[in-house]
Amino acid sequence: MADYVIALDQGTTSTRAMLFDRSGVPGRTAQLEHAQIFPRAGRVEHDAAEIWAHTARVLEEVVQDAGLAASDIAAVGVTNQRETAIVWDRRTGEPVHNALVWQDTRTQPRIDRLIRARGVSAFVETTGLPLATYFSASKIAWILDHVDGAREAAARGDLLFGTPDTWVVWNLTGGPDGGLHVTDVTNASRTLLMDLRTLDWAEELLEVWDIPRAMLPEIRSSIGDFGQVRTPSVLAGVPIAGILGDQQAATFGQTAFEAGESKNTYGTGNFLLVGTGTEIVRSRAGLITTVAYRRGDEPARYALEGSIAVTGSLVQWLRDNLGIISRSEEVETLAASVDDNGGAYFVPAFSGLFAPYWRPDARGTLVGLTRYVTKAHIAKAALEATAFQTRDVIEAVVADAGRTLDELRVDGGMTRNDALLQFQADILGIPVVRPAVVETTALGAAYAAGLSVGFWKDLDELRGQWREDARFEPQMAQDERARRYRLWKKAVSKSIDWLD
Ligand code: G3P
Repeated sequence: MADYVIALDQGTTSTRAMLFDRSGVPGRTAQLEHAQIFPRAGRVEHDAAEIWAHTARVLEEVVQDAGLAASDIAAVGVTNQRETAIVWDRRTGEPVHNALVWQDTRTQPRIDRLIRARGVSAFVETTGLPLATYFSASKIAWILDHVDGAREAAARGDLLFGTPDTWVVWNLTGGPDGGLHVTDVTNASRTLLMDLRTLDWAEELLEVWDIPRAMLPEIRSSIGDFGQVRTPSVLAGVPIAGILGDQQAATFGQTAFEAGESKNTYGTGNFLLVGTGTEIVRSRAGLITTVAYRRGDEPARYALEGSIAVTGSLVQWLRDNLGIISRSEEVETLAASVDDNGGAYFVPAFSGLFAPYWRPDARGTLVGLTRYVTKAHIAKAALEATAFQTRDVIEAVVADAGRTLDELRVDGGMTRNDALLQFQADILGIPVVRPAVVETTALGAAYAAGLSVGFWKDLDELRGQWREDARFEPQMAQDERARRYRLWKKAVSKSIDWLD
């Protein structure tokens, strides 16, 4: 009998395969980082061929290292960085351009023209999303417009588009030799091309962006059938039984299935999701509306999301661009070597500001500097920026819901940092709760696939597996919390309107 489910997590910085047993405890993991390609300011690319090679390798490694065979694996669940656009030739399997990553802002001029003509909320009713470079549509259009012959090839039906879930599933199921061209409702809801109500591609939007329907994948339920693995051969015949965008997967892994349940994931960026059940709720405060998951033929579940572009990647930037730390983990000790931020505030608006501001004209800003400020204060300000940005998003949730959250469930790599979580609780004024499994993104993908093949019975069984690891109670005095947040808002106001 198969005792494991494998989650494949194709993230922004790495690709991981993780084994889960029936109790939802993570076992062996294989992980490979891929290159971050920055051809010029505002451009962020990945090599999709490298991503597929890494996918096959980590899957192979995790099965072989654990001494398992395909018959030990009940299902594979896929989760992924969302929005990132890959366009490839269906006959050769070759990408026609590097992937345009969700953080890439090169399409801002096109977005600006559309905003001037139709307003930033022109497609909110249909898609739940504002007009922004973040989502896939303008990236697909850019590739079609800039790669020689791409438009003609797309019109002939020779090119396929996919977010990373679609790309890896197409390759896993045979590639040019009969690979399945599919996605799930959560990923499709991030393209700016799907109608949230019909869960199908919206004709009007395909026309706006001039994207042929034939290049788009078939949209399926998140918990359902996505074919069987053919490559790598160690997993041949194992069903791919779930796909969830990574933030929706983390929500699922936190067992936040119902309306009002939420989670905040600390990754490259931060993403807070609050479930709204089967209701499609529109935000008045800068959140986006997204699909949370769909199980088989049941109605889809929706969520409001506060997306923050830069949190963990600011730590990478301190490491790679400034060199003030040599490994990401060092930021914690460096920040802990000083009592406070020394007056420095860091707004990491490297891709403009996402939720709740949606200001593409914002840029990274470090303010409050004096001769006193050291690299340790800057490290602290960088970590604090994560907590302040989360407060911005929670303010929007509170404004929309008309009531405050009782507590914040958190997950993701950065949440191993106790000092950050304590500061988060202090700045929010509500308890912050960390579960025993912080790898909830992978866990959610495993849960989706496992539910689909009957490895787990139902949502209640999954709920029963959630365990609290630590709870951080707010300790900061009210007026100090208010003072720091006021200064943060002032720093944000300095970061906007920063384009020529
Ligand atoms: O929307 C972008 C998000 O899906 C990326 O997540 O964890 O790869 O930074 P992550």
